[in-house]
Amino acid sequence: MKILVATEKAFAPVAIKLIREVTEAAGHELALLENYKNVSELHSAVTDSDAMIVRSDLVTPEVLDAAKKLKIVVRAGAGYDNLDLPACTAHKVVAMNTPGQNSNAVAELAFEMMLFQARGGFSGKSGTELRGKTLGIHAIGNVGKYVAEIAKGFGMDVYAYDPFVTDDVIKASGVKVCKNPEELYSKCQYVSLHIPANDKTKKSIGYGLMKKMPKDAVLVNTARKEVIDEDGLLKVFEERPDFKYLSDVEPDCKAVFEEKYKNRFLFTMKKMGAQTEEANINAGVAAARQIVDYFKTGNEKFRVNK
Ligand SMILES: NC(=O)c1ccc[n+]([C@@H]2O[C@H](COP(=O)([O-])OP(=O)(O)OC[C@H]3O[C@@H](n4cnc5c(N)ncnc54)[C@H](O)[C@@H]3O)[C@@H](O)[C@H]2O)c1
Repeated sequence: MKILVATEKAFAPVAIKLIREVTEAAGHELALLENYKNVSELHSAVTDSDAMIVRSDLVTPEVLDAAKKLKIVVRAGAGYDNLDLPACTAHKVVAMNTPGQNSNAVAELAFEMMLFQARGGFSGKSGTELRGKTLGIHAIGNVGKYVAEIAKGFGMDVYAYDPFVTDDVIKASGVKVCKNPEELYSKCQYVSLHIPANDKTKKSIGYGLMKKMPKDAVLVNTARKEVIDEDGLLKVFEERPDFKYLSDVEPDCKAVFEEKYKNRFLFTMKKMGAQTEEANINAGVAAARQIVDYFKTGNEKFRVNK
């Protein structure tokens, strides 16, 4: 089978080396389309591929139309909002993700951003500490669990809200349970977002929740920019000079922040939560293994489309 790695933002070379080892050892052929600039390059590269590994690359109906032989696409990562799932199903393509493989990298980035902000961007001015501060984890899945672990190491007072995880599981990780988002945002000076981006969650974090946060509030978003209601965010920024926003990827309203709210935000230029060598290796190799296993045994454990 021909397995294409199609990445607008390439994997670390060491991850490619390991992906090659896994696929070639199973008798498959590996093709690479890295750092492509135009989607037409993807359309051409995918024509004769049986399987494809992507990162944040969009798998649209047009890509699937071009992929005449495609049987499986694996998103090397957790969020799979870049895959058009109904279109995958319509094209009889199995879609998978690789949950948990980059979670620690994302959790560490959340803390890297919090620490940088707490110390005034390493400007030399007096900053603040994380110890003793309240942290709310909005969704305690794979990333949220690592965030809880690190937060406890910092001596933070940790809360979580997740309607799909039982209270017992949350408590077992030493985290206090909040019954609804309102309680979480009211209690916590820091809130770290780990909800997926879907029809229910897009634009769900807005003025109503943010304004409830205590003094010197810091909202940390390593989830997706789409979950934020940016009108609400700007309204809170206008009203509350103590409010800060840290985000893994620039919001659409970045220009307003730059013009009006200097020193109150931190945005990564490109999404970089999963940009570590370790996460690249974990997610890339998991994707390769899942494809090899699917062709060998039909294993669909990580399938995300019906
Ligand atoms: N910045 C990055 O590079 C990067 C990397 C990986 C993941 N992410 C984002 O982080 C998100 C979380 O990743 P994960 O690996 O922890 O996913 P996960 O699937 O392990 O966990 C998601 C959690 O969200 C909960 N949830 C779902 N809907 C919810 C809702 N409406 N309200 C509250 N909780 C809800 C689920 O119960 C689950 O526990 C991903 O969906 C992705 O968008 C970003």
